[in-house]
Amino acid sequence: MSFLPRAIRPKAPPIKTQGIKTKVVPLIARSIVWDGEGRWIEPFLGSGVVALNIGPQRAVLADTNEHMIDLYRGIQDGAINGRSMRQYLEREGSELLDKGESHYYAVRERFNEHGDPFDFVFLSRSCFNGMMRFNKKGGFNVPFCRKPERFRPALVTKIVNQVEWARGAMEGKDWDFVVQDWRATIASAKPGDMIYCDPPYVGRHTDYYNGFTDEESDDLARALIATDASFALSNWLENKYRRNEYVDRWFSSHPQRTMSHFYHVGPQEALRNEMTEVVILSTCAAAEPVEETQKESSLPLFEAAELTDV
Ligand SMILES: C[S@@+](CC[C@H](N)C(=O)[O-])C[C@H]1O[C@@H](n2cnc3c(N)ncnc32)[C@H](O)[C@@H]1O
Repeated sequence: MSFLPRAIRPKAPPIKTQGIKTKVVPLIARSIVWDGEGRWIEPFLGSGVVALNIGPQRAVLADTNEHMIDLYRGIQDGAINGRSMRQYLEREGSELLDKGESHYYAVRERFNEHGDPFDFVFLSRSCFNGMMRFNKKGGFNVPFCRKPERFRPALVTKIVNQVEWARGAMEGKDWDFVVQDWRATIASAKPGDMIYCDPPYVGRHTDYYNGFTDEESDDLARALIATDASFALSNWLENKYRRNEYVDRWFSSHPQRTMSHFYHVGPQEALRNEMTEVVILSTCAAAEPVEETQKESSLPLFEAAELTDV
């Protein structure tokens, strides 16, 4: 009997990032069998959307991006809640409306100096395409979306509700948010734990802060194959042009569940591309496959991270 819901309508978290798995959550949930007794371990937490939707009782949620972890620690300890987020966004949103892009860049500079999680949400929700990208020194460097009216009441309320939803999802749960490299996180896993990994995709992103090399991807495959815990690993499997040979090289004998979706790299129909996502499973974590291929429209841009550095 699995603790994970077989059917799930995913909700979105307060933060955006390229490669966010909101639309893949149903595939993840229906692919994994796990009794929920051990810990849900996510070495690459990102926006937190998977853990928040799955809602395990005990979890280790880790990422090397300290800003993601700070945000969720702030929500967990109550310093960041719907009320404080509304106050912040109404104040900063109105300054953005008055001053335009100079205010966005002032917040970006302030954030790169002090790392305030409220500023992190502001930047994530008003930067170009909701991207998450850092320069060599760890400074957030995504430009403005060029919409000074960005924080309209409807968006403020949406973000406030997302913060409240995240707070509710972790309330009464034993969740540990840690800034940590994936190696240490996987090394801490024990039998009975379920590791869900969503690393930066092999051969797709170049980002100074999240740089993930082919060697590191191979090390990750070795660590997962060697772990005593159960695991699930997300990756891309194929598109019209190529197939991810990493998946075949390391995991050809592991159970796999797939889903295809469309994403856009531009406004024209011709730039609509189909991509197959895969969830690779350790044998004991594999649920019975469901005959279903979801065609999703317009996911957040995977390709956005390949734009030139700013
Ligand atoms: C594809 S994203 C995860 C997306 C997440 N599943 C979601 O839906 O939002 C990959 C994450 O890995 C993190 N990361 C990159 N290198 C890492 C490392 N060496 N150890 C731990 N996390 C790392 C990045 O900061 C990023 O948040």
